[in-house]
Amino acid sequence: MATLPREPASRDLLPRDLLHRPLGVLRLSLTARCNLACTYCCPDSADPPGLLNLAERRQLVECAVGLGVHTLRLTGGEPLLYPQLDALLEALAPLRQRAPSDPRGALGCLALTSNGALLSAARARALRAAGLDRITLSLDAVAPASVARMAGLQGGAAAGEALLAKVLAALEHARAAGFDPERGQLKLNAVIQAGPGGNADQLLPLAALARERGVELRLIEFMDVGNRNGWNAAAVWPAAAMVGCVDAQWPLEPVGRDPHGTAIRWRYRDGGGYLAVVASISAPFCGDCNRLRITADGVAYRCLFAATGSDLKPWLRPSLDATGLTAAMAQLWQTRQDRYSEERSSQPATGPAAPHAEMAYLGG
Ligand code: GTP
Ligand code: 5AD
Ligand code: SF4
Repeated sequence: MATLPREPASRDLLPRDLLHRPLGVLRLSLTARCNLACTYCCPDSADPPGLLNLAERRQLVECAVGLGVHTLRLTGGEPLLYPQLDALLEALAPLRQRAPSDPRGALGCLALTSNGALLSAARARALRAAGLDRITLSLDAVAPASVARMAGLQGGAAAGEALLAKVLAALEHARAAGFDPERGQLKLNAVIQAGPGGNADQLLPLAALARERGVELRLIEFMDVGNRNGWNAAAVWPAAAMVGCVDAQWPLEPVGRDPHGTAIRWRYRDGGGYLAVVASISAPFCGDCNRLRITADGVAYRCLFAATGSDLKPWLRPSLDATGLTAAMAQLWQTRQDRYSEERSSQPATGPAAPHAEMAYLGG
């Protein structure tokens, strides 16, 4: 069972948004680039100009921690493409060493979401040694042709087979490096798409694989994030149907959703571990959303589906204004009222959705 980091003692004094939600998680994208081209994400081949440097990223995290952030999730694009990842983790160590009651805040958890293709044994060991607590890898299929199609790879089944082998090896490298799936430190994400060209037929094979390997599989509803993944409602396989499908094969019992969490968890009744669903479309979880996102070029977004963000670079360049940066972040959070997924489900679409930022730019 995942252990949640303790919230700071002075929590009541920290900023709340207009829906009374505290700030708790910072999702920091390190690059918009990716080594894969998953069809539901459609990453860019180049980064935007004005990428932040390591010191600027550390500074953003420090200010966010002061406002209540206890968990940092590093994302991309593919975060393992960022050459200074270990150095960034090391630079964040002083924030980890603070007591949870420290009035300046403390970073309780460092997590990473990666596609796993670049996670060698040495890389996994280095990340662990540099202080990473949790890794979530992605795998959307087991059948090689389907792996290749979902990842947008040319080369058909042979390319899919090679990627599958890399991701499975990455899982074992992470485990060997000390990321313990039984303590919620190693998980597997799978985006499931219904309909032709989708991967619904891969759901049970993925569940079987995750059970065999003792990792929690998180089945993610295909989301309408970005503007270019061709999302349509018919391509969403609702979480209840996904759970029903697995339950018919391996009976499940409900565990529930952690406070501020994205995933609803289930336990296999035969002791085969856990399964989870991220049901942003059919069961939105905006009500207690505590996540702020910052892109690789320093733009803060208050929601995964926000149309626009706020550039934080003016407080970082030409020189750091830490007080101004903290005030700007606090102001952003205190004026937040985003609840896109809830609004989407309560208001039937009357026309084309407003454009929102791309998935790989925001990091999910
Ligand atoms: P844990 O801390 O391990 O629970 O990770 P997480 O689920 O917060 O992060 P991860 O990067 O594994 O994301 C899993 C899925 O949830 C991805 O599809 C994300 O895009 C999606 N997701 C994460 N945060 C949000 C959110 O605030 N809103 C919505 N709608 N989806 C989110
Ligand atoms: N819908 C749902 N999940 C998505 N991800 C990327 N694009 C989408 C989408 N359109 C997932 C990735 C990864 C996480 C960061 O977000 O597969 O697990
Ligand atoms: Fe948070 Fe926006 Fe996702 Fe709702 S849709 S959970 S507010 S990021």
